[in-house]
Amino acid sequence: MDVVKIFDTTLRDGEQSPGVSLLPEEKLAIARQLARLKVDVIEAGFPISSNGDFQSVKLIAEKVRDAEIAGLARCNIKDIDRAWEALQGGENPRIHVFIASSPIHMKYKLRMDEEQVLERAVESVKYCARYTSNIEFSAEDASRSEEDFLYRLIEAVIKAGARVINIPDTVGYAVPQEFGRLIRNIRENVPNIDQVTLSVHCHDDLGLAVANCLAAVENGARQVEVAVNGIGERAGNTALEEIIMALRTRKDYFHLNVEQDTTQIMRLSKMVSKLTGMPVQPNKAIVGKNAFLHESGIHQDGVIKERSTYEIMDASSIGVEEATLVLGKHSGRHAFREFVKDLGYELDEAAFEAVFNKFKELADKKKNLSSVDIEALINNEIYSVESYYELEYVQVSTGNTVLPTATIKLKKEDQVLQVAACSGDGPIDATFKAINSVAGIDNIKLISFKIDAITGGTDALGDVTIKLDIDGRTFIGHSAQPDITYASALAYLEAINRYISVSRRQGAHFVEDED
Ligand code: KIV
Ligand code: ZN
Repeated sequence: MDVVKIFDTTLRDGEQSPGVSLLPEEKLAIARQLARLKVDVIEAGFPISSNGDFQSVKLIAEKVRDAEIAGLARCNIKDIDRAWEALQGGENPRIHVFIASSPIHMKYKLRMDEEQVLERAVESVKYCARYTSNIEFSAEDASRSEEDFLYRLIEAVIKAGARVINIPDTVGYAVPQEFGRLIRNIRENVPNIDQVTLSVHCHDDLGLAVANCLAAVENGARQVEVAVNGIGERAGNTALEEIIMALRTRKDYFHLNVEQDTTQIMRLSKMVSKLTGMPVQPNKAIVGKNAFLHESGIHQDGVIKERSTYEIMDASSIGVEEATLVLGKHSGRHAFREFVKDLGYELDEAAFEAVFNKFKELADKKKNLSSVDIEALINNEIYSVESYYELEYVQVSTGNTVLPTATIKLKKEDQVLQVAACSGDGPIDATFKAINSVAGIDNIKLISFKIDAITGGTDALGDVTIKLDIDGRTFIGHSAQPDITYASALAYLEAINRYISVSRRQGAHFVEDED
């Protein structure tokens, strides 16, 4: 049976989601989880686009060994050199070059004609071949391109050395039968197409990305480009979890294999949601909170009698575990270490100690600790950024008859700063105002504030995610704590620390449109 390769672009196209910007260490954490899931290729970034992207691709190429690492480049020498500089430490790195092939893009964006585009594409692929034979070529906006030109372009870049040909539906314009037909036409009209893997990359503007990819696969595509939770430019990309589970669940129909460890899907989805600050809608296929819940009596009755009446997939196949009671305040280090290992985390000694101490504190306050609580503590630790500011304490007085007031004490790199008190419309407003005043940062706008109870019960951890606009850029912070004011203060500070960390590493330059 043929295999469909999974090329993940969460860290490149996914990060192009409005308002999302990840730090290199966060991208590395996601890349490691993608490798655990066993995706075939991880597109780690677009190295020329900023120093941050360059550093991320370099870091991931050096550290992640269980997947091919790809870096994106336009068809020019500078982009390709920079991509290779970032990728070269990897095991089997891939340069992914692209140029637009549709009349609209060539005329208005590139101001080039067909022959110029073809020549530039061939030169660029040949230039990549000096570095590696692992070259992917994308014809941007392929689905709106003239087919005869597309065939000529593909044939020429294959001759020049491309090993993977990617057909993007860049603006999410295609419909499934038409897109499937395009893939079949390419296979029938490009004489050397059998020398390469044919890939597809679909955007979800009409909600058809997954359907288009599946139609392409039925017609011979053997690589699908995806992003976790379907994030990405505008309406996003093809959702990784939907493609993998569709191919796996309907193997009887597609007669194709995917080789991923699907039990890693849920953790990956949560990690991406947390780090990007992009919530997953409850009814989202595969990874939504409701995806495996049955509300109607008839359905519940059916599932109790025989699961397959209303369930086509087993929740455990994507790594959803029952929240079972496993640890309590008498559990020791050894049991806790085993538990953390079973959850799939590898913590260094310092991180383990920090999480263990937090677990003990929490176990004193909350009786029933589930794996979900422990994961929240681990996530607090491993995803937190360098602490430029640390919270010494927060004290809030509030109620319907008093003016909500917060007192905050912060530590700034060994120096203790204090503010007496700030009042606000409510306890959270007062807390944030107090933090702003101690930190001396006033150009902050709160974009969103989200709070969730991690498990049921009034003693559940409050999981707070905050998005701030500072200097026109978005920064995310989150924290899970039993006390929601404390969690809010920590999340707010984390976003500020992220801003400071990014500003300190500045020097970023951003890609100008090519003309
Ligand atoms: O959507 C698109 O066309 C792309 C290419 C760079 C592959 O993201
Ligand atoms: Zn794209």
